[in-house]
Amino acid sequence: MTGNNFTHQLKVYTQLLLDEESNWGERRESLQQIHRLFAECGAMDMLQTDNATDREAVWLEGGYAVSPYSAGMCLFEIVRTRLFVLGLINAITDLLQLQKERPIQVLDAGCGPYALLSLLASLYFTKEEVQFHLLDIHRSNMQSAGKLIESLELSDRFDSYLVADACTFQWHRQKDLNIVIAETMLNGLRKEPQVALTLHLAPQLCTNGIFIPEKISVDCRWHDSTGQQRKLEEMNELGDNSIPDYSLFEEQLCNVLTLTKDSVKDYFLQSPVAKALIPLHHTSQKDQIRLYTTINVYKQYIMHHHDSSLTAPITISQPNKNPLQPGTTIDFWYAIENMPEIKWKAYS
Ligand SMILES: C[S@@+](CC[C@H](N)C(=O)[O-])C[C@H]1O[C@@H](n2cnc3c(N)ncnc32)[C@H](O)[C@@H]1O
Repeated sequence: MTGNNFTHQLKVYTQLLLDEESNWGERRESLQQIHRLFAECGAMDMLQTDNATDREAVWLEGGYAVSPYSAGMCLFEIVRTRLFVLGLINAITDLLQLQKERPIQVLDAGCGPYALLSLLASLYFTKEEVQFHLLDIHRSNMQSAGKLIESLELSDRFDSYLVADACTFQWHRQKDLNIVIAETMLNGLRKEPQVALTLHLAPQLCTNGIFIPEKISVDCRWHDSTGQQRKLEEMNELGDNSIPDYSLFEEQLCNVLTLTKDSVKDYFLQSPVAKALIPLHHTSQKDQIRLYTTINVYKQYIMHHHDSSLTAPITISQPNKNPLQPGTTIDFWYAIENMPEIKWKAYS
């Protein structure tokens, strides 16, 4: 196949992934085909690689930069990949409508071995409309992404390939930086450097620039697991496969952290950054206190806790693990450097 044929195929698979009407199985299949096509184009194949450097992660001051292998595996997080690509396409489209200056400059911070988010979005624009700048700490990611982009004959849309730490990187170009996209996070904003990276890169955006994701919130909620289990069993008996309204089984106790492009470091250094009071009805043997992560990727593209590993709830209290009595207060604070994570202390 030639580069053009590969690109045509990639667009067909991407279209299926992004289509409102496609189902979960079709989206999964489209990502498997995209991965196969990337490998055929000479990119790192994370299902085959036995190269030791592809398995090497690195600890940086802002947090943990996953290995090229793990970054490649993110492709298969269906909802994540789909919503981040849709968010990026929509953000570029919005800026093209709002401003005259072209091309839109996009920095893909932590692009991984496929520059996945930029690459799929690039299929929908011309080189006159958008230029992507790829940045990753792993040189092998950049080599893999470069090879892939060349094979797909999309090099005209990719301006730079930068091997650097995103938490110290400076945008020195004459042109305004319009969009930064970064997915360097785990649930509860732990371990990976999303907070440090956002605090460092967002101020480098031009006025009205867009940071993707727009907002990440971590909330502490009481969870009625008995009620939820009962509802799921009822739905199962009725053959109802839809997703229940999980919010019916949750009660907001406090917002622990919110990260946006306007966030400042001092907010994360507060001690405590938030407080929660365990409700008096927290008495059932199955009740839990959990941290819920919500990712507002861009506008209507939002990831909730049942959507991916990035938003999976973290249980901080249940009867057989850190049981907390009704009326207990929990103080939260955030460790921002080296090993980022939310920490907490409970007292009555
Ligand atoms: C979870 S992967 C996501 C890869 C890709 N953006 C995607 O969405 O499929 C995170 C990527 O960020 C890179 N990364 C993490 N911390 C970084 C840092 N401080 N500077 C540059 N790259 C970083 C990792 O090497 C990895 O490739």
